[in-house]
Amino acid sequence: EKGGYEHFMLKEIYEQPNAIKDTYRGRLLADKGIIQMAGVEDNLEKFLNADRIIIVACGTSWHAGLVAEYVIEEFARIPVEVEYASEFRYRNPIINKNDVVIAISQSGETADTLAAIKLAKENGAFVFGVCNVVGSSISRETHAGAYTHAGPEIGVASTKAFTTQITILTLIALRLAKANGTMSVSDYQRYLHELELIPSKVQEALECNVVAEQVAAIYKDATNCLYLGRGYNFPVALEGALKLKEISYIHAEGYPAAEMKHGPIALIDESMPVVVIAPNKGHYDKVVSNIQEIKSRSGKIIAIVTKGDVQVKELADHVIEIPEANEALTPLLTTIPLQLLSYHIAVMRGCNVDQPRNLAKSVTVE
Ligand code: M6R
Repeated sequence: EKGGYEHFMLKEIYEQPNAIKDTYRGRLLADKGIIQMAGVEDNLEKFLNADRIIIVACGTSWHAGLVAEYVIEEFARIPVEVEYASEFRYRNPIINKNDVVIAISQSGETADTLAAIKLAKENGAFVFGVCNVVGSSISRETHAGAYTHAGPEIGVASTKAFTTQITILTLIALRLAKANGTMSVSDYQRYLHELELIPSKVQEALECNVVAEQVAAIYKDATNCLYLGRGYNFPVALEGALKLKEISYIHAEGYPAAEMKHGPIALIDESMPVVVIAPNKGHYDKVVSNIQEIKSRSGKIIAIVTKGDVQVKELADHVIEIPEANEALTPLLTTIPLQLLSYHIAVMRGCNVDQPRNLAKSVTVE
């Protein structure tokens, strides 16, 4: 059942190229310039007339929501807010008829997310679900939705659910951008073709497994770890840290790289590993200066870089390479080495990778 892999988590990490393909199969027709998802097409006007989109989710799905915020706002120019479902449901939020709420959940059973959906519906919002489990409570409770079609995710640590959620939300962002006319036709076409290349790039990113294992062996006894990223990769930093905490029990924090100087930099010394997500796009130069700041305080730098990188390589203690990609699509690649890193560290520490202590796959109680 684990398909020859030692753990479900590893199997699911390796399933990502196919899972992403399954997510966009029949929905992304790059040559024709078409993105089609019934749940979106049937409700296109609701999305286009929305005053704002509110995304509610928990854990890893909330991180996917943060990536979606960046993508939807940049592509479709619709304001997006991302909320922890558990906070949203209890804070008497302002919800209007013209709001579109997107609920993201792998299991479709998360109690807080379900409650947030009910609240949004009571207040007249249109609620769209992004679930993996077909027929789950959230998929039934929402007005419309799109399944990720990632296949069963058994490991408690979410992996392929995250990358497929980002895939579908990117498709939605592109569809809305086309309808809104907020993206040039040539950029739109380019993204469609770029998306089609993602599965093979994820496959290529998986080749970093050997290096990830070597790096894991060096840092497996760390007691703390920082993850830094900017822009689209800030949520990936949060996700990397969550993955390490939940399966290896090492305390980890994710931060937007520039926030470091507002506090966390005080933590840095020679015993602090810092994972920096530094692809050659976006704020590369800014990330390079953040790396210099860490280095001058003797922090150990593990950098996720684009193949062929020169500058970061000179500064970092270790580099893990990912293939080149359009900035907005880099989270689908930078996530891979972080999943593998935490997986190997957890295995080396003798942890129960697929069923970490105190955690359940679906959090059906609040
Ligand atoms: O099934 P859901 O996506 O609603 O679950 C949300 C979180 O409980 C989940 O992502 C959790 O954080 C994972 N264990 C993270 O790996």
